Amino acid sequence: MPEGRVFVTRRLPDVAFDILRDAGAIVTIGQSDEEKGLDREAVIAGVRNADVLLSLLTEPIDREVLQSNPTLLGVANYAVGFNNIDADAATELGIPVTNTPGVLTDTTADLTWALLLGIARRIPEAHRYMVDGRYKIWGPNLLLGEDVSPGGSGRRKVLGIIGYGRIGAAVARRAIGFDMDVLAYDPHNQPAIDSDAADPSRHLRSASLDELLSESDFVSLHPLLTPETHHMISERELKLMKATAYLINVARGPVVDEAALVQALQRRTIAGAALDVYEDEPRMAPGLAELDSSGNVLLVPHIASATRDTRDRMASIAATNAVAHLRAERAPNVVNPSVYDTAAYRARLDASGA
Ligand code: GLV
Ligand code: GLV
Repeated sequence: MPEGRVFVTRRLPDVAFDILRDAGAIVTIGQSDEEKGLDREAVIAGVRNADVLLSLLTEPIDREVLQSNPTLLGVANYAVGFNNIDADAATELGIPVTNTPGVLTDTTADLTWALLLGIARRIPEAHRYMVDGRYKIWGPNLLLGEDVSPGGSGRRKVLGIIGYGRIGAAVARRAIGFDMDVLAYDPHNQPAIDSDAADPSRHLRSASLDELLSESDFVSLHPLLTPETHHMISERELKLMKATAYLINVARGPVVDEAALVQALQRRTIAGAALDVYEDEPRMAPGLAELDSSGNVLLVPHIASATRDTRDRMASIAATNAVAHLRAERAPNVVNPSVYDTAAYRARLDASGA
């Protein structure tokens, strides 16, 4: 095949560029400044001059972008979530799309637990208390939080997991160590729930959404963002939650109606929320950050997969997927596999000479 050109929207860990260059690709980077994105025109211009696009979750890859190059051979997304890409349009246009699943499962599950423990035990407030020099004397009522394990009351706490894919299951596995009862809800992954529920040591059972919301002490969100899961947690669902319950979201911001969440927190109809993702990143809904002074939010900037090792592995997988696209080979992590059987895909290969 002719030398392939890969447009990488933003700077990635070096390993991605090593893989692409070893494969003989000519690489262009859209934006090298870590703290900047690139605008839509720059994405389109890059796509027009490339055979393969390597995108980040910060770039919307919609139909217009996909259509801007009739010989584009594939899109490799540097994320497990691919809601930034119009995958249906890609399939229709004959463009394979890939993601980076698996490698970030544990890393994301770990951050989920960091948030869960952090909000329940008031870690951000406690930290600030120390660095502000406010710690004068130990006392029985200093910074009281809530147990995650049975703790003093002996009551097993209930963890509700919405979205039981790899990450949801990894979060459930960690709950064994905290002696929790786990409720799981995922209409698309019932077999995984049933199989884990069959093991009594897991203390896990399948639940309806409403049952899960009304019985859980901690509700943790792990679905893909789709039209079906958009605003899946809104006013009605928040009202079903216990006043003592916490919400944790490491999935995608729009799964939660953030304005409704702010209201619930302001009115204290739930105990708190720990968030890694936001509805309109990097912005936050009005009032969310101000809740810091009430101590019922823990907010971090979309860092669930942010460890050196995992980001390197994601970069390596995304680059390997991009090379497969370039060579018109079946890509290892394709999210729209049916594309390979379409006439649109074959027409694209013919047009590109791949
Ligand atoms: C990160 O949010 C990802 O989907 O990989
Ligand atoms: C992540 O790997 C998931 O699909 O849950």
